[in-house]
Amino acid sequence: QTATSFYEAIGGAETFQRIVAAFYREVAADEVLRPLYPEQDLGPAERRLRMFLEQYWGGPRTYSDERGHPRLRMRHMPFKIGPVERDAWLRCMRIGVAEIEPEILDDEHRKALLDYLEMAANSLMNAAW
Ligand code: HEM
Repeated sequence: QTATSFYEAIGGAETFQRIVAAFYREVAADEVLRPLYPEQDLGPAERRLRMFLEQYWGGPRTYSDERGHPRLRMRHMPFKIGPVERDAWLRCMRIGVAEIEPEILDDEHRKALLDYLEMAANSLMNAAW
């Protein structure tokens, strides 16, 4: 029996590329989120988030090769993340996930992915307002 990773089960690199590209397309137009991103070019941030999610779900470990331990709470401390920012982030991410067809992302995998993203977004809040 060959173990298939979650990453492979939902379409591998192409699925993560599509979700994160759609996410940053939304971020670029979001008045809450866009000012938080320090770089003019969102391309490098898009690549980091994509690599991180691929690694988390069992894909290539390029994120850690390039960035080391994720330390996501620490890396988000420079940005104020309260309920408004969390909700904006999740809104963009849900749009990205919704663009993946059910033939590629079935209900069970979709729920696992969305539950994780919600949990992770809650865990990165660092402000109560
Ligand atoms: C980086 C905002 C949630 C993963 C960043 C950056 C900002 C940001 C402004 C800096 C851009 C960059 O240099 O890459 C937010 C906000 C969130 C949120 C407002 C709302 C809750 C999350 C979640 C995850 C995540 C839930 C993971 C599931 C990452 C990663 C990086 C990053 C991997 C790059 C870290 C590095 O290697 O430097 N985020 N983020 N973020 N974020 Fe978030």
